Amino acid sequence: MGRRKGGNKTLAPCSSQRNDSSKGINEFDAEMSAVGSEDEVVMAERTESSNLEDGSEALALVGGDQTSADYYFDSYSHFGIHEEMLKDSVRTKTYQNVIYQNKFLFKDKVILDVGAGTGILSLFCAKAGAKHVYAVECSLMADMAKEIVEANGFSNVITVLKGKVEEIVLPVTHVDVIISEWMGYFLLFENMLNTVLYARDKWLINGGVVLPDKASLYLTAIEDAEYKDDKIEFWNNVYGFDMSCIKKLSMVEPLVDTVDQNQIVTKSQLLKTMDISKMTPGDASFTAPFKLVAERNDYIHALVAYFDVSFTKCHKLMGFSTGPKSRGTHWKQTVLYLEDVLTICEGEALVGTMTVEPNSKNPRDVDITVKYSLNGQRCQVSRTQHYKMR
Ligand SMILES: C[S@@+](CC[C@H](N)C(=O)[O-])C[C@H]1O[C@@H](n2cnc3c(N)ncnc32)[C@H](O)[C@@H]1O
Repeated sequence: MGRRKGGNKTLAPCSSQRNDSSKGINEFDAEMSAVGSEDEVVMAERTESSNLEDGSEALALVGGDQTSADYYFDSYSHFGIHEEMLKDSVRTKTYQNVIYQNKFLFKDKVILDVGAGTGILSLFCAKAGAKHVYAVECSLMADMAKEIVEANGFSNVITVLKGKVEEIVLPVTHVDVIISEWMGYFLLFENMLNTVLYARDKWLINGGVVLPDKASLYLTAIEDAEYKDDKIEFWNNVYGFDMSCIKKLSMVEPLVDTVDQNQIVTKSQLLKTMDISKMTPGDASFTAPFKLVAERNDYIHALVAYFDVSFTKCHKLMGFSTGPKSRGTHWKQTVLYLEDVLTICEGEALVGTMTVEPNSKNPRDVDITVKYSLNGQRCQVSRTQHYKMR
C-alpha cells in the first residue's frame, strides 16, 4: 500500500509544517452539515500554554521580550499557531457554521469563550447577536484579541479577560453558553478539556449549553511498512552503526501524521464518546475494548487513532471528523506502531483494549497502553505496548 502523505511531524513544540495532503470525502458529512469551503487546509503544532503576567505589552508578541525559550512553553503567544488554526478550514468553518446557522443558541445570550486565542469564536458569537461574550485567554495573544475586538467594533459586546480560566474573576455569576476549541492531538493531548469542565461547573447556568458537547475517539489499523521502516527500523543501522536504543524511544512516541485511506486494513472501532455537558475530569481516563475486523488480506504495522466532535444542540446535527477518510485537519491522525507485523486475513479480528490516562507527572501528556492479540490462520500474537504522547 501507498506511503503516507504529509510530514512526519512529532510533538516537538513550536515547529510547524504545511500539510500537503488533499483529502477526499468527509465521512462525517454524510450525516452532518459541517464545512462548506474547499479552502486549503493548513496544520498547526499545538503545545501547552502557560499563564503570563497581566500588563505585558502586546509588542512582546512580535519579538520584543520573547525568546525562543519563552515560546517553547507558551507557543500560543505567537501568532503563527493561531494563523495555522484559523486556516484549518474544517475546524474554523465548522464553528462559524454552528454559530451563524444556529443563532437561536446565541442571540441575547451571555457566552463564555474558554481559551479565546485571537477571539475568533467570540467574534462569531457577537455577530450572531450575543448579549455579551467573555473571552478568556491566558497567553499574550489576549492583548491582540483586545485590539482585534476593538478594531472590529465589538468592544461593547466582547470583554477579553487575560488570565487562566481557573484564576480569573468573571464579572457575572452565570453564563448561558460555553464555547471552546479545546481538542488536542489524540483528542486529549494538552488536557484543556479539564479547563472547559472547570468553567462549566463554575459558571454554566442550569440548562445551559456547552459547544461542542460530544467528542468521540476511534481506532483503526493500517499497513505501513515503508514508513515504519523509515521512522522506526532506520535506527537499526545508521551509516553502519547500531542506534537501536533510539528505536525503543521512537516506538513509545505516537506519531501525529496524515494516514492515506488506502492504508486502512480494518473497520474502525469507536473507543469512547465523551459528553462534555455531563462528564467529570475522571472520565477522560478509561480502558476501552476494541475489535478490529480485517476488510482484506494484508499486514498491519500500526494502530491509528482519530476523533470527531459534534454539536448536538444545533437545529441539525453538526460537527467534523479528523479521520483518515475525512478532509484533512491540523490534528491529522495519531499513529501507534506495533512491535509485531501482523499477517491478517479478511474477516479475522485484532482484539484488545486501549487504556488512556493523563500522565501523573505532567497531566498535559497522555499515557496510552494497548493490549492486543490476533489469533489468525497465519499469525498468532499477543502483546502489551506502552506509549506516551508528549
Ligand atoms: C486551541 S486554541 C483555540 C483558540 C481560539 N479559540 C480559536 O478557536 O482559534 C486554545 C487557546 O486556549 C488558551 N488556553 C489554554 N488553556 C487555558 C486556560 N487554562 N485558561 C485560559 N486560556 C487557556 C491557549 O492559550 C490557546 O490560545
